[in-house]
Amino acid sequence: MAETPGLKLVDRDDDGVDRAFRADVLEGLRGAQKAIPARWLYDDAGSQLFEDITQIPEYYPTRCEREILEARGSEFASAIGPGRAVVEFGSGSSVKTPLLLKAIDPAAYVPLDIAGDFLRAAANELSAQFPGLPVYPVEADFMRRVELPAEVADMPKLGFFPGSTIGNMVPRTAVDLLRTMRETLGEGAQLLIGMDLVKDREVLEAAYDDAGGVTAQFNLNLVRRINRELEGTIPVDSLKHEARWNDDFARVEMHLVAQEDMAFNVAGEAFSLAKGDTIHTENSHKFKRRSTNTLLQAGGWTPRGRWLDNQGCFSVVLADAGILRTAP
Ligand code: AVJ
Repeated sequence: MAETPGLKLVDRDDDGVDRAFRADVLEGLRGAQKAIPARWLYDDAGSQLFEDITQIPEYYPTRCEREILEARGSEFASAIGPGRAVVEFGSGSSVKTPLLLKAIDPAAYVPLDIAGDFLRAAANELSAQFPGLPVYPVEADFMRRVELPAEVADMPKLGFFPGSTIGNMVPRTAVDLLRTMRETLGEGAQLLIGMDLVKDREVLEAAYDDAGGVTAQFNLNLVRRINRELEGTIPVDSLKHEARWNDDFARVEMHLVAQEDMAFNVAGEAFSLAKGDTIHTENSHKFKRRSTNTLLQAGGWTPRGRWLDNQGCFSVVLADAGILRTAP
């Protein structure tokens, strides 16, 4: 039977190669500063490694955000009110969602994710945990405008975007996404978004270069994936994981640093790195109170409330759709 057009989120060629992956990698390796979009870190092995990262002592964001969601439930409830359809962008395994759903008395839950199997499994688990709450999973790329299920059309929406995933995007892309979310969610929507905060360089770099080497494996997994899926010959053992704080752009960058001169092929094309050159694989932007507000406003949202964990490591911000215009 023919596949339903439009439902295929991964476009593969006759050899089963993900066309977008190959195009992004080749383009990224041709530049003077080699750089590969961070979304390709998350194949099955990479997603598992990220789950492991959330458990390591140096990686504070998951712990701090969970603390906020657990401790401030009654404040969320009064700021958000009951009866909203909660739309989670990139729900993944939805581990933080029960904390929010418990707090606010929602009318429905709509998890959006690109990974369909993962999505449906998580949706089933949530349904079991919240009997009586309608759950409508949608397999979609949330970077584009999503048509929400008809069942939630008349409900006011609360977008939920935890984990400081917004920080993986450069501001221009983050603003595009925030605007797209507004279109997806419609009039009267709110957004509850996790945004990680600027702190000491040592703490930030350790969070992205843990002593146990889990983040290094997460980063190197991208190269293993390239070698496996794109007939690559990149010498994995000659690349070293590095986390760098870039103070001008307020972000932690992950790089793979060449430990010696190297030449390799990917998908039939030849590339080289000199000793000390890097492949840039991820940005994780960090914010201050004003920069969270500026970014949200640029994306069409007015910040209304803000919660921090006890140590002041991480923020969860509530915003309303629409920008406040004041005179003149
Ligand atoms: C998935 C965006 C929340 O940037 O902190 C963790 C990914 N990379 N360690 C982050 C990540 C290296 C993570 N987010």
